[in-house]
Amino acid sequence: MDTTAIAHIGERVGQTTSVAGWLYNRRSSGKIQFLIVRDGTGYLQCVVPKAEVSSEVWEEAERATQESSLVVTGVVRAEPRAPGGYEMTASSVRILGASENYPITPKEHGVDFLMNLRHLWMRSSQQHAVLRIRSEIEQAIRDFFYQREFTLIDSPILTGSSVEGTSTLFETDYFGEKAYLSQSGQLYLEPAAAAFGKVYCFGPTFRAEKSKTRRHLTEFWMIEPEVAFLEFDGLVELAEDFIVYLVGRALERCREDLKRLERDTSKLEGIVKPFPRITYREGIAKLAAAGFPVKFGDDLGADEETALAQGLDRPLVVSRFPAAIKSFYMQPDPADPEVVLGLDMLAPEGYGEIIGGSQRIHDLALLERRLEEHKLPREAYEWYLDVRRYGTFPHSGFGMGLERVVTWVCGIHHLREAIPYPRTLKRIYP
Ligand code: 4AD
Ligand code: MG
Repeated sequence: MDTTAIAHIGERVGQTTSVAGWLYNRRSSGKIQFLIVRDGTGYLQCVVPKAEVSSEVWEEAERATQESSLVVTGVVRAEPRAPGGYEMTASSVRILGASENYPITPKEHGVDFLMNLRHLWMRSSQQHAVLRIRSEIEQAIRDFFYQREFTLIDSPILTGSSVEGTSTLFETDYFGEKAYLSQSGQLYLEPAAAAFGKVYCFGPTFRAEKSKTRRHLTEFWMIEPEVAFLEFDGLVELAEDFIVYLVGRALERCREDLKRLERDTSKLEGIVKPFPRITYREGIAKLAAAGFPVKFGDDLGADEETALAQGLDRPLVVSRFPAAIKSFYMQPDPADPEVVLGLDMLAPEGYGEIIGGSQRIHDLALLERRLEEHKLPREAYEWYLDVRRYGTFPHSGFGMGLERVVTWVCGIHHLREAIPYPRTLKRIYP
């Protein structure tokens, strides 16, 4: 069968070809049926004129219901008024698989209903657009690090140690021993940085987040670079360059999808260097002046983050947090030892933290002390301490939450729509 992907239908103007897909929508005037077919690459209006086709073809077209799979054959024409700019005048319609009572109809449905049908919902145009943008951003992530000559180091999913606190660990039985689903690949990347210089990992990470917010998934994808001899200021720059590149790629290659989501792309076009920066101390002072009941040592919640990023047209880099509210591995600031060389990048428009990172402690004794202070079992980290025992070196890295960035770029409300099959406190189906 000579089928053409709808994305490439423009190359077949004036010719007879076939498209294979699913019936997305239909209209009929009695004399003409308009079948909107989608094949995953695009949408094509197929026109079936009663006067020009056999009664079998006409009736087959009438039998096609929403989401029936079908093959339509006909001549392709340029048609500026049609969605996508092309149209097919059908000479044949063949249903492959019927679809009776498709549960998602053009009427409004609740999110829970749609999430239970996530496997079908992804066929809908907006969900489809979000997941295409996600796919493009994932490709852009790989390209960015490949161009900069990073080595990809896949980190394990089953691990024996926590990275980001013990309260969100998913525990599992590992042949009679405790194992955890990875919260972050970072600890495995630091040794790899000593072997390869510039490394990154990109994979699923897991956190038993008991809070039900629009920003938290229990399974999310994180991209984590780690660079030998890179210090804090260089890390901030790497994070900036990365975000500018990803947003640029979405703008360049996902115009149609962004349009379908009615995303205000002027907001994304303004994402250029440099990003505004503020230290945690400055942030606390600013928040206190604005009436927030915060003091040095407090963690910044979603409301505080939103207030700090308010009115900014680019992501905000917040740096130098009190050691006590950050992870055990963060390097103290030599100029202000009460704080660590950590950064959070907050997206504009209220989307919150998209990146968290730091320079890492490279002094063995200090790292040992921190493990103790955080009550982490030393045995599980012996291998990690080796990085400091054998040729220690300053190094830095960060983690970017893929779904946080996709949600922001798409301008959607909730992280659960930025991943094909979301896992949250209340959802593991489908
Ligand atoms: O700030 P976090 O916890 O940092 C780390 O895990 C470091 N070990 C990364 C590193 O330095 N290599 O998480 C990094 C990012 C956050 O900024 C956020 O974008 C995302 O991961 N994230 C989540 N995304 C969705 N759901 C959750 N529950 C998330 N928790 C963190
Ligand atoms: Mg963080």
